[in-house]
Amino acid sequence: MKTQVGIIGGGPSGLLLSQLLHVQGIETVLLEKHKREYVLGRIRAGVLEHGFVDLMREADCAERMDAEGEIHDGFELYDAREKAGGIVIHNALKVQPHDLKSDAPYLTYELDGEAQRVDCEFIIGADGYHGVSRQSIPKDILKEYERVYPFGWLGVLSETKPVSPELIYAKHQRGFALCSLRSQVLSRYYIQVPLSDKVEDWSDDMFWEELKQRLPDDVAANLITGPSIEKSIAPLRSFVAEPMRYGNLFLAGDSAHIVPPTGARGLNSAASDIQYLYHAFVDHYLNNDNAGLEGYSDKALARVWKAQRFSWWMTTLLHTFPENSDYDNKLQDTDLAYLFSSKSAMTSMAQNYVGLPY
Ligand code: DHB
Repeated sequence: MKTQVGIIGGGPSGLLLSQLLHVQGIETVLLEKHKREYVLGRIRAGVLEHGFVDLMREADCAERMDAEGEIHDGFELYDAREKAGGIVIHNALKVQPHDLKSDAPYLTYELDGEAQRVDCEFIIGADGYHGVSRQSIPKDILKEYERVYPFGWLGVLSETKPVSPELIYAKHQRGFALCSLRSQVLSRYYIQVPLSDKVEDWSDDMFWEELKQRLPDDVAANLITGPSIEKSIAPLRSFVAEPMRYGNLFLAGDSAHIVPPTGARGLNSAASDIQYLYHAFVDHYLNNDNAGLEGYSDKALARVWKAQRFSWWMTTLLHTFPENSDYDNKLQDTDLAYLFSSKSAMTSMAQNYVGLPY
């Protein structure tokens, strides 16, 4: 098989880029190791930047988002991608990129036990933190930056009316709490927990009780509880790999960077990579201009680091850090008091939260 842009990974980054390029008449082949049902069943992020919303419209994927989307609601990508008839190969196992420094890179994989090959002009590594793409860049070229946090988030999805139409982020001595939503009948709640906690240790009742303790009384009184339909603990991590390009391999999304969830930057940072790649490929294929591809790594990383800074700051502002000194705790309280008292601090927070310009 032969294509222009081979994409490893059928998550939101890979699918969105494949769809955007397809609309422009640029060929892609996308390899995804999991079954379609597995990908569709993954827990989704809920808060999209306005730039991302524009990108979904440009990709012709905005039908459900525009019809059903609340201010912070989700979206559907798979249906549109399949409607457009693009090539998405599920169950593609042992995907391996080759000859990345040449102008004829290729992908190998196994499908139903048979060896396969896709010859490409470019390869996109959109295969997440654990994927093969970043690992294909030589160790002496790749620099990795990382911070891990001494706690996780216990998240619950429940078919209940959200306690508030707007998200509530709560800083409490017992730990951080967040009230979010996916729709008017689907709520998403999180509480900070120690990394040693196991999800089996948390019954639904225990979760709701702990959440109520961390919310203001009037909010807790209005909280509608119900059985969880999903419950999991996620560790928090900040991570960046540089550069985001090696030869004709371009990394996008979680394969190159991870944020702690506070501030909802993860999916949105992936979308900004895709926006840059999309314009770079349109310029390359339709305008014979390579500046976008040449500048991709630096441009993407500049925005990635700003999202890193914001999510690190919001995490540090709102969580309880077990190792903090009294002095650290006073500074943390003062940071929050400053935010509540300063219009310019609030404006800065709002600019970052709604999404910095691409
Ligand atoms: C959600 C997650 C976040 O990290 C956040 O800051 C806001 C919302 C969510 O899953 O809904």
